[in-house]
Parts: sequence; structure tokens; C-alpha cells
Amino acid sequence: MQTTFHTTQKSLSSVGIVWLRMAVIYLILGVTLGIAMGASEDFTLRPVHAHINLLGWATMALAGLVYSVYPHAGMNRLAKLHFWMTNLALPVMMIALTLLLLGQRAAIPFLAASEIVAALGIVSFAFNIFLNLKKN
Ligand code: HEM
Repeated sequence: MQTTFHTTQKSLSSVGIVWLRMAVIYLILGVTLGIAMGASEDFTLRPVHAHINLLGWATMALAGLVYSVYPHAGMNRLAKLHFWMTNLALPVMMIALTLLLLGQRAAIPFLAASEIVAALGIVSFAFNIFLNLKKN
């Protein structure tokens, strides 16, 4: 009984760990871009740096902490939608934003589409918080 409880707890909280690991990858990317901007004194990609850090690091790390504290909320369909929409949309969004800031207007449809998907991921998170956050 004791072993079953511990095994279940361990596998449930691994969802939060995946989110936190993804978040820290974005933190490394965001900080690297920040250093590159400072070193080159070229701040063209400042919005990319800000969104990698705030959506990629801060928002994803907070989701990871929420899903660690409430592991059951991290296992349902809304959480899976949140995870895949965020992690598929964000890289496309950051690449498209970079291209747009560098003058490639052809990136606009990709930016718009990925922004919508990222926003829908956040809506899934919000519904999940309201519907499924309860004492484990
Ligand atoms: C070693 C780490 C970091 C470095 C070297 C760095 C560097 C920079 C630089 C050079 C700028 C442009 C400043 C300017 O245009 O005057 C900037 C802007 C910004 N950074 Fe960072 N940054 C770092 C970490 C972070 C983190 C962790 C976050 C958020 C969690 C963050 C959020 C922002 C935001 C929101 C802006 C835009 C500010 C604005 O447009 O007014 N940065 N950063």
C-alpha cells in the first residue's frame, strides 16, 4: 500500500518536472540572447528575448510548479492540450517574430497562427485551473 502510494505520487509529479525542464531550456536561450544583445549593442530582438524569458521561462515554470503542487491537474486532457499547444507554438512564434523583426514580412501568418495556438494553450490552462484544482 505504502509502495503504491509512493509510486503514484512519483509518476504524477513527473509532469511538473517536464514543464520545469522545458522552462529552464527557455531560460538558457533567453539569457543567451540577452547577453548577445548586450555584447553586440543591437537590441532589435528585444521582444524575442522578453517573450522567451516571460512565456518560455516564467510562465512555463509557474505551470510546472502548479502541476507539481496539484499533480492531478497535470494529468488530464486540458493539461495535455496546454503542454502541446505551448510547446509546439512557442518555438514557431519565436522564430517567426525573429524573422519579422529582421524584416521578413512573410513570417506574419506563421506568427499570427502560432500566437493563436499559444493563446489557446493558455485558455486550456485557465480552464484546467478553474475546473480541476482541488486538494489531492
Ligand atoms: C543574464 C540574463 C539577462 C540578460 C543579459 C538580459 C539582457 C537584456 C537586454 C540587453 C535587454 C535590452 C535592454 C534595452 O533595450 O535597453 C533586455 C530586455 C528585457 N529583458 Fe532581459 N536579460 C536577462 C534576463 C532576463 C529575464 C530572466 C527576464 C524575464 C524573466 C528578462 C526580461 C526582459 C524584458 C521584458 C525586456 C524588455 C524590456 C523593455 O523592452 O523595456 N530578461 N534584457
